[in-house]
Amino acid sequence: MTTQRVFSGIQPTGVAHLGNFLGAIKNYVRMQDGHDAVYCIVDLHAVTVPQDPAELRASTLRMGQLLMAAGLDPERCILFVQSQVPQHSQLGWLMETTVSYGELSRMTQFKDKSDRNEFISSALFTYPALQAADILLYDTNFVPVGDDQRQHLELARDAAQRFNSRFGETFVVPEHVIPPVAARIMDLQRPNDKMSKSAEAENGVVMILEDLKSIEKKFKRAVTDSEDEVRFDRENKPGISNLLEILSAVTDKNPVVLAEDYTQYGQLKIDTAEAVISVLQPIQERFAELAADPAETQRLLTIGAEKAREIASVVYERARNNMGFL
Ligand code: TYM
Repeated sequence: MTTQRVFSGIQPTGVAHLGNFLGAIKNYVRMQDGHDAVYCIVDLHAVTVPQDPAELRASTLRMGQLLMAAGLDPERCILFVQSQVPQHSQLGWLMETTVSYGELSRMTQFKDKSDRNEFISSALFTYPALQAADILLYDTNFVPVGDDQRQHLELARDAAQRFNSRFGETFVVPEHVIPPVAARIMDLQRPNDKMSKSAEAENGVVMILEDLKSIEKKFKRAVTDSEDEVRFDRENKPGISNLLEILSAVTDKNPVVLAEDYTQYGQLKIDTAEAVISVLQPIQERFAELAADPAETQRLLTIGAEKAREIASVVYERARNNMGFL
């Protein structure tokens, strides 16, 4: 059996938070083994909303360091920056011809982001076509993502199938891999909203590179409810269930079973903070080491981009040819 290909992407801008880590990065690391894994820092997606050039460059490098610190190993996966592989923009254009205005109009992320920004670029609207291109360029079988990417992944599948039926077998139709727990980590202050890079209530967002004392405080202040029963019930007890889900993702134990160990909210908060800190601390230490040598990270990302281009150029040529370009 041939090794299955895994692909995923993460935006470099905004602060990387616990939701990104538990919902996605942790699975990127896990799926390096036994798969042919390709991971991309999607700077072309980041510029769909206005970015400061110096900050974009710095945060792209920082995301490379963060992903390596979290356990992505350039010897075991391909890790690269999207804009360094031109086939992403090239296939992105072809995919724009394959998805419809109506489909793009239904994307909830576009609606959310366009409500929040004054300048709404046309690229923000066509963003999911580029995301489809990202995935399809690598003959991807599996895409590990959090729950908020479900709709984009459905569109990528539809686009692949449509292209194949119009132009002949070209793309592998990918499947998403959404974890059973931690696919949607919620804001600690507003447990009905997902933890988000652009969240206004900063106290609700735990950053991967945050000071450990500050992380502890945020968990202690997490919003719960006025009952006193620890029970895993996402609908009626969103705050408590979110804590259980975080603890579950970190300890690999079932959240329903974990709940049985607790009679007090306070102890659950303390244990969750402790468990989170125990996984983030080594990542932070490794990040500090990598940050001391930015040239090395750049070198590794350049090698990653070369390897990515080798795969992407073959698939892009296939698409170009099947579509009838001279
Ligand atoms: P981005 O950069 O917003 O998020 C990166 C990953 O983190 C997951 N995530 C969460 N998981 C659990 N709980 C949360 N609160 C939470 N917040 C974010 C996201 O689901 C994602 O998996 N459009 C994508 C980037 C992208 C991409 C791709 C992904 C571009 N091309 C191709 C997969 C394949 C995005 O903006 O992710």
